[in-house]
Amino acid sequence: MITVSAPGKLMLMGEHAVVFGEPCMVTAVDQRLYVTAQKTDDGKITVDAPQSKETKFVDATVAKFFATKGITIKDRGVSLSIRSDFTSQVGFGSSSAVSVATLKALSLVFDVSISDREIFDSAYQVTIDIQGVGSGFDIAAATFGGTLFFKKGGEETIPLSNEIPLVVGYTGVKADTPTLVKMVAAKREKYPEKVDKIFAAIGKLVLQGKEALFVKDWEKLGKLMNFDQEYLRDLGVSSEKLEALISAAKEAGAWGAKLSGAGGGDCMIALVPEQKRQTVEQAIESVNGKVMHVHTHAQGVTVEP
Ligand code: MEV
Repeated sequence: MITVSAPGKLMLMGEHAVVFGEPCMVTAVDQRLYVTAQKTDDGKITVDAPQSKETKFVDATVAKFFATKGITIKDRGVSLSIRSDFTSQVGFGSSSAVSVATLKALSLVFDVSISDREIFDSAYQVTIDIQGVGSGFDIAAATFGGTLFFKKGGEETIPLSNEIPLVVGYTGVKADTPTLVKMVAAKREKYPEKVDKIFAAIGKLVLQGKEALFVKDWEKLGKLMNFDQEYLRDLGVSSEKLEALISAAKEAGAWGAKLSGAGGGDCMIALVPEQKRQTVEQAIESVNGKVMHVHTHAQGVTVEP
């Protein structure tokens, strides 16, 4: 029996534009998803996931693993048990974490080698097969961990520096990522010039954000996040609730604040001076946001002791 865990993630900058080829920055968070795997000799695949309504990502990941590693039907008995520090409601990327942790766990119980790059590629393929859209940034965070500069499909995956002083506020609303991505794509079809300009501008902000992060110029990074949020608003993916939490955080002294992920709900992030953390958290709570206590720059997929 073996247990493998993979972290959740928060998008720092570049969401949506990353789906269309621009870079983004993502950090892995210390809320983890755990997959315990045991080989069985009954040829059956059983999945126990009491915290989720469905297991389609696990099922597709298992099928992908058997197909790519050439494991024959008679050898396929395995039981998988899945537990998570976070629910699929908050937008930390439970589908990516479950695919990544499952691939690693299966490689260990079936005693076949798998590199992190193979884990990324297989899990990304599973996401595209199921959702049809996505950049794979969440899978990169779950696989490699830390903080990454990332381009769609793993074209570039560059590790960046340390912990980031973030406050995270959850709106209480579940975002529907594929629908939001398709909505932005439809907007681009209709107004290609305008939307491509927004994507290019977001891409530039990410490049500047990478430099600011490198030298820990939080004030600058905060400003860049604010500009990013303005573009996301123009794309139509922000929401009243997100805006309320973002404004509250900024008024309470955050260097910058923006939505994180697809928009429409899920979480917002605020970059905050340490002495303002409590005030910002209280401000977020005062507008009915739920503060999520997480650390950034968490370890990627790993075998639990
Ligand atoms: C969703 O969390 C972030 C998006 O950029 C989609 C993706 O990158 O896969 C909107």
